[in-house]
Amino acid sequence: MTDLTLGQAQRLTAPAPFALLSTLKEDGSTNFMAISWWTYLSNHPATIGVCLSRKGLSGSRIEATGEFALSIVGEDVKQAALNCGRCSGRTTDKKSEFNIPAEKASVIVPEVVANSRVVFECRLVNHTQAADHELYIAEVVAIRGNPEVKQVFAFDGYARLDTI
Ligand SMILES: Cc1cc2nc3c(=O)[nH]c(=O)nc-3n(C[C@H](O)[C@H](O)[C@H](O)COP(=O)(O)O)c2cc1C
Repeated sequence: MTDLTLGQAQRLTAPAPFALLSTLKEDGSTNFMAISWWTYLSNHPATIGVCLSRKGLSGSRIEATGEFALSIVGEDVKQAALNCGRCSGRTTDKKSEFNIPAEKASVIVPEVVANSRVVFECRLVNHTQAADHELYIAEVVAIRGNPEVKQVFAFDGYARLDTI
């Protein structure tokens, strides 16, 4: 073995999980952000963690509203989902700009991505600083899905989305 940078290690451990994280913006619309750093944290109660850079909009919206959804999206939104990782909801209405097929969530306010393999609706329990990111810990309050949808994962240091 040889020494690796974290970036090299992240490429070697692909495919990485991928989701679109949705939050409610101040104007009542839904913002979608690309996210690979999410994980299951607990079974009872069902708990998920998401790790967000403080530079983007989404973390501040989770803190302001206490809610977010994670949509494990399918191939139909592959390019749109990648675009959601390349600009901020501060300056772009990503839902209309990238034609994200959104639908109402079952219990939380922000919309979710239609035709997803799995959608988790989450309520914030706690958050803590994780060096240059913020870790948000949330209880899962609803889960829906469709096993027919093929899940997309992140490859090439988060530069490409594809099925496996
Ligand atoms: C495949 C992929 C995965 C990403 N994963 C994360 C992540 O886990 N955490 C994070 O903070 N940003 C991640 N990003 C970057 C954010 O999606 C990006 O900074 C986005 O512009 C933030 O949007 P917002 O300002 O609307 O919240 C990822 C981007 C891509 C393309």
